[in-house]
Amino acid sequence: MKIYAINGSPRKNKNTATLLQKALDGVKKAAKDKEIETEIINLYDLNYTGCKSCFACKKLGGKSYGKCAIKDDIYEVLEKVSQSDGLIFGSPIYFSNITAQLLAFLERLLFPYLVYDKNYSCIAPKKIPTAFIYTMNVPENLMEQIGYPKTFNHIEQTIEHIFTKPLVMYSNDTYQFDDYSKYESSAFSEEAKASHRKIQFPLDCQKAFELGVNLIK
Ligand SMILES: Cc1cc2nc3c(=O)[nH]c(=O)nc-3n(C[C@H](O)[C@H](O)[C@H](O)COP(=O)(O)O)c2cc1C
Repeated sequence: MKIYAINGSPRKNKNTATLLQKALDGVKKAAKDKEIETEIINLYDLNYTGCKSCFACKKLGGKSYGKCAIKDDIYEVLEKVSQSDGLIFGSPIYFSNITAQLLAFLERLLFPYLVYDKNYSCIAPKKIPTAFIYTMNVPENLMEQIGYPKTFNHIEQTIEHIFTKPLVMYSNDTYQFDDYSKYESSAFSEEAKASHRKIQFPLDCQKAFELGVNLIK
C-alpha cells in the first residue's frame, strides 16, 4: 500500500507540512502490520503549470485519452498518485483559497478523469480514500462568517466525484513567523498567537494523526 501527502505549502517544515506528516504517522499506525509506504510530495520543488486546456485528455481515440498530456515535472507524479491507495492534500489558505500550486496540481490530476459525457462520469483508475488539511490565519469562529467552508467545498466536491469524499480538517490561527517581533505584524497579538500555538497546535497535530488513522480504516 502507498499513501501520498501532497504539500501545497512552499514551506517544508511549517504548519501544513507538519500536519501532513502527523496524518501520515496516523496512517502508519492504523496500518499495523500491513505493509505501508508513505511519502510527502512537495509541490513547490516541482516545475509545472496548471491545465493548458489542450483537451488531449478528451480527444476520442487519442493516445492521451483520460491522461494529462503535458510532459513536465508533474507528468510522472500524476501516474503514481492515481495508482496509490490514498491521498492527503494539504494547503495554506492564500487569499481565501488553496494555493495556486495545489490548484494547478488538482487541475492536472482531476480534469483528465472527468468525462464530458451526459453524466460527467469519471474514469479514474481507482476510488481511493482522500483527505484535505487546510491551515490558515483566520480563527475558527470566523470561518463560517467569511464563507471559507463553502469556498473549499467546490474543490472537495470535485475530489469526491473523481475519487471519494475527502475527510476534512482545519488548523486555524496558525503561527506564521518564528519571531513575531521581527516582522510588521501589528494586526495580530503576538502573545495570543504564541499561546494558541502552544495550546491549540498540538491538538491540531493530534487531529491530523486521527485523520490519518481514519483514512485507511
Ligand atoms: C500570500 C499569503 C496569503 C494568505 N492569505 C490568507 C487568507 O486569505 N486567509 C487566511 O486565513 N490566511 C492567509 N494566509 C496565512 C496562511 O494561510 C497561514 O499562515 C498558513 O497556515 C501558512 O501555512 P504554512 O505554515 O504551511 O506555510 C496567507 C499567507 C500568505 C503567505
